[in-house]
Amino acid sequence: MTSPFADGRRLPHPPLSKQPGYLRRIFEDPQPVLDELRAAYGPIVGLGAGPVRLAIVGEPTALRAMFAMPNDAFRWGHKFNVLGFVVGKGSMIVSDGSDHSRRRSSVRSAFSRRRLNGWIPMIVDRTDAAIDALAERHVDGPREVDLYPVGRHLVLDIVVRSLFGERLAARTDEIGALFQRPQDYLESAAVRQLPHPFPFTRRAGVRADRRAMDAIIDDELARRRADPSGDPLDVLETLAVDGSLTDAEIRDQVVTLLGAGFDTTSATLAWMVWCTSLTDGLWSRLRSEADRVLGPVAASRAQSTADDRTLADLQLANRVMRETTRLHPAGAIAPREAAVDLTLGGYRISKGTLILWSAHLAGRDPVAWTDPLVFDPDRFVDLAPEQQVLSDIAWVPFGRGARNCVGFALAQMELTLIIARLAQRLDVQPVTSDKPRPVGMVVNRPRGGAPMRVAAR
Ligand code: HEM
Repeated sequence: MTSPFADGRRLPHPPLSKQPGYLRRIFEDPQPVLDELRAAYGPIVGLGAGPVRLAIVGEPTALRAMFAMPNDAFRWGHKFNVLGFVVGKGSMIVSDGSDHSRRRSSVRSAFSRRRLNGWIPMIVDRTDAAIDALAERHVDGPREVDLYPVGRHLVLDIVVRSLFGERLAARTDEIGALFQRPQDYLESAAVRQLPHPFPFTRRAGVRADRRAMDAIIDDELARRRADPSGDPLDVLETLAVDGSLTDAEIRDQVVTLLGAGFDTTSATLAWMVWCTSLTDGLWSRLRSEADRVLGPVAASRAQSTADDRTLADLQLANRVMRETTRLHPAGAIAPREAAVDLTLGGYRISKGTLILWSAHLAGRDPVAWTDPLVFDPDRFVDLAPEQQVLSDIAWVPFGRGARNCVGFALAQMELTLIIARLAQRLDVQPVTSDKPRPVGMVVNRPRGGAPMRVAAR
């Protein structure tokens, strides 16, 4: 039998003396390291040795090949996957094989096209509520406000309402507070995340927050079982009564959807506000489009007619979303372990290697994109066919294939509608002309948030 390594070359890699530094930094502050490694060694690089072997893969055609490989060529429940401590060992995000398929398919109905379209008026309405709250605090002229926490609250509100209904939405603040410590923990240095049983530490705090979150979910499950509404669109009720998952599994999927759903989208929203407000004339172009497509604010609030057609017509807002996620994908790297020996981009990757595939590198690939570091939402207009193919392959902020993001359509819809409504109703000026540097290992966000001078239009 031919070895899968037959034609593979050895991964390019930094000299031994530089390895410890790169290994430490890639798990703390990945973006600059990714750029440095690509400049020095190319878009596919090896790091580490022995039990800690890493392959960074950011070359678009190699990624296309990887996404097309069967799921069992990789493992997500691997030793480096620290997410399990926060989302639970029964979460789809850290599962493999039939457990993964069962858990993932149990929540798929939540994202059916019919449900997604039904959320459009609610997303516009919640964005209006967030803008009203801002306007109330800033009645007497422009004030500096950090739009990042504003967006986090808004996105959590939308995710809770869309997946778990109005009743749980009343507890959005409480839920947001219970996610803060786990998210800070995931962003802390790897050494602080080593398992230990000690009380009064951040890890013990994360466990306590998770218990409190589980109690909220148990409460909701009990209510739905006692008095089912029969609504097939209520995800929690479907999970509560259909018996496909145990209660522990349900809790883990709920925490996963909330955790994966709001931090990523709100970090992207913060980048979107930066990129848009720093690009000459873009805010006013977005405003003109929103005025035309969403209609006058007062009328659309009195009776919302927003639907999937509206969303499709917000073409500039959609390109702004695509361009932001190209340049600033919320997950700069995403891990999966090679479960077999394989070859990617012509390089050998041995079983047990932790593959960090990178949407950040693919989104800035100099072959796929012209002037990759320039934010230009119009780059997607009138692409030549060969350029279209290259950019389709290189735009992977939500992954591809059988492990792609289950919430990709919800996230894209939220981001498109929110930026359109913000531009329609607010004047927004950045407080500085320097786009901040990225921070975040699990979720890539702008350092210092998104401080803007904001006024009602
Ligand atoms: C801008 C927003 C978002 C980005 C950039 C994003 C990105 C990603 C990426 C790259 C993956 C695949 C990682 C891999 O290959 O292992 C992923 C998986 C996932 N995402 Fe998202 N995501 C976003 C929003 C959401 C939302 C709104 C939800 C749900 C409400 C969600 C839920 C999930 C889940 C559950 C998975 C795991 C899927 C599986 O393991 O089968 N994400 N996301």
